[in-house]
Amino acid sequence: MKGKILLGMLMVLIVPGYLFGAQMGSHKYSDFSKPKRCGMCHKEIYQEWQSNMMSRSFTHEWDQVEYFKLALPHSKKLAKVAGVKAGCIACHGPLAFLSGDIPPKEASANTRANEGVSCDVCHSITGTTEKEPFNFSFTIEPGKVKNGPRKDARSSFHSTRFSQFHKSAEFCATCHDEQSPYGAWVKSTYREWKAGPYAKEGVVCQDCHMHKAPGKSAMGGKERKDIAHHVFQGSHSSTKLAGAVDLAIYSDKKELSPGGRLKLRAVLFNGKVGHAIPSGSSEERMLWLEVVAIDANGNSYQIPVKPKGFKGEEYTIASSKVMAYQAIGEIMEIKGFKGLKRDGDVPDGARIFRKPFFDPKGRMTVCQWYTKDNTLVDYRIRPRETKIENYVWQLPQDLPKGKLTINANLFYAQVPGSVGKFFKLPEDEYRPLLVNSAQITFNIK
Ligand code: HEC
Ligand code: HEC
Ligand code: HEC
Ligand code: HEC
Ligand code: HEC
Repeated sequence: MKGKILLGMLMVLIVPGYLFGAQMGSHKYSDFSKPKRCGMCHKEIYQEWQSNMMSRSFTHEWDQVEYFKLALPHSKKLAKVAGVKAGCIACHGPLAFLSGDIPPKEASANTRANEGVSCDVCHSITGTTEKEPFNFSFTIEPGKVKNGPRKDARSSFHSTRFSQFHKSAEFCATCHDEQSPYGAWVKSTYREWKAGPYAKEGVVCQDCHMHKAPGKSAMGGKERKDIAHHVFQGSHSSTKLAGAVDLAIYSDKKELSPGGRLKLRAVLFNGKVGHAIPSGSSEERMLWLEVVAIDANGNSYQIPVKPKGFKGEEYTIASSKVMAYQAIGEIMEIKGFKGLKRDGDVPDGARIFRKPFFDPKGRMTVCQWYTKDNTLVDYRIRPRETKIENYVWQLPQDLPKGKLTINANLFYAQVPGSVGKFFKLPEDEYRPLLVNSAQITFNIK
């Protein structure tokens, strides 16, 4: 019996890709200061941190739902994914993981897991066990010493240690890249960056997500020309997303008449994002282009994208008929569950820039820990990549005379609308955000 328990514990420890680097239960909650304490002197940084996802990494509704309704029950049912019970928390509630409080209580219990990725987590990190880090492979030493980017920082509250690591992309990679228990790369923001132009030019994550401006970082601190602001804006920020991809639309004709044929070309350029867009939680992020004609009477016509014929393309063209995410029903033991609409409310024929993930049964999934493969197709937009989409539209014979407008709208959603509605998430967690739009007009004679 004892042997069996030991063996069970060993199995959990050797779940591939999970549970290494930072050690579960190696510390106590009380080893870490509360963010409020740090905020007494670092007022602005505290405000910034409080208003971004780092402070909400555990309490955020969708994170709570995914962990408590899906990953945690799944970890108890399927040995292969047993490690995620602790693994999710290592990145999303590091204090709970390091204190061995696994599984932590839900956010409503208000434990210190709720502090999320706190000041003292990041500033107690000393390095990593990996050359190209992933899966919380940071090393951490909480205490009096705070690791940071300066050689000459002095504080009466704590001592400081210069850390080159905090200025590197590898620091971010410890939590931003992730391998599933099946060995699939289910988060690869660092690896996408590394393979792209910004890494070669020496532009790191901090340059775009922790902007520098003149000021002081603390009460009693030095006036400096380049204080690191803890903005950490990503796709949850409509202002960060706005204009992240350039969009233009062209036509082959100037004059049009009813019954005629119109060819359109949309050109998209990722000039601002240092990795693919979407990145991060690619299993559930969608970027899509809707091309719509609006006639003089206000009737609208969705114009479907012209297929290119690449492998896996069917996953990149919206269809209201296709169901996916059946694993949700399997995990939640819902009898007769057929799945949810793969593309939520995206109109039929719209091009979706995405990377579909598949579970061991070959079904498309939003469960990144239950992902066996995601290499079928990657139709996201890489850094400085241009994608061209073509459209052919046969104008109706009865199209009214007057103004015809073609609108191209590029939208982004965190989570497919069907999944958001199924879990009754607050609407702003799946509502489409406008990234960019372009327009051309014609006079129909
Ligand atoms: C009593 C005020 C005070 C408190 C409380 C405080 N700090 Fe500081 N901290 C400072 C001052 C002053 C500096 C120096 C700023 C400078 O030189 O520009 C500093 C510098 C830092 C640096 C930069 C170190 C470097 O080498 O670049 C980090 C990181 C830091 N603090 C983190 C924290 C964290 C995390 C907490 C909470 C656990 C905290 N501080 C609490 C006053 C404080
Ligand atoms: C996700 C990790 C992360 C979190 C959370 C975080 N920091 Fe930082 N912090 C960094 C990194 C990385 C840098 C260095 C950025 C650079 O120089 O490019 C930094 C820099 C600093 C500095 C030095 C600023 C300067 O330019 O002199 C201070 C002070 C600081 N952090 C305090 C805090 C406080 C206080 C909190 C919580 C309210 C906090 N940090 C939360 C990662 C983090
Ligand atoms: C200790 C783990 C950890 C480290 C280190 C870390 N992050 Fe994060 N980060 C997270 C988690 C967890 C979230 C997700 C919050 C959520 O949505 O639940 C996140 C969210 C973000 C977001 C917000 C994304 C959005 O969708 O809006 C950005 C941007 C980001 N991190 C950038 C960085 C950068 C840049 C660094 C390095 C300077 C870094 N992170 C280091 C854990 C970490
Ligand atoms: C050249 C600027 C640039 C660089 C370099 C960069 N990013 Fe971003 N990042 C952006 C922009 C712009 C967005 C918003 C658009 C989006 O969500 O993709 C973003 C979005 C994100 C998101 C949100 C993705 C999601 O699914 O919600 C995360 C997380 C993130 N970045 C982390 C990182 C990390 C980690 C690095 C370094 C390995 C990095 N970024 C490097 C510009 C940059
Ligand atoms: C290696 C660190 C790491 C692990 C392990 C991890 N996550 Fe995350 N998770 C992140 C980061 C970083 C982000 C933010 C990336 C982005 O913006 O898309 C994120 C984003 C998410 C999101 C999207 C939040 C949103 O606002 O849309 C959910 C939900 C989530 N994680 C749940 C989980 C669950 C459940 C597990 C365990 C099965 C898990 N995560 C394991 C680092 C991790």
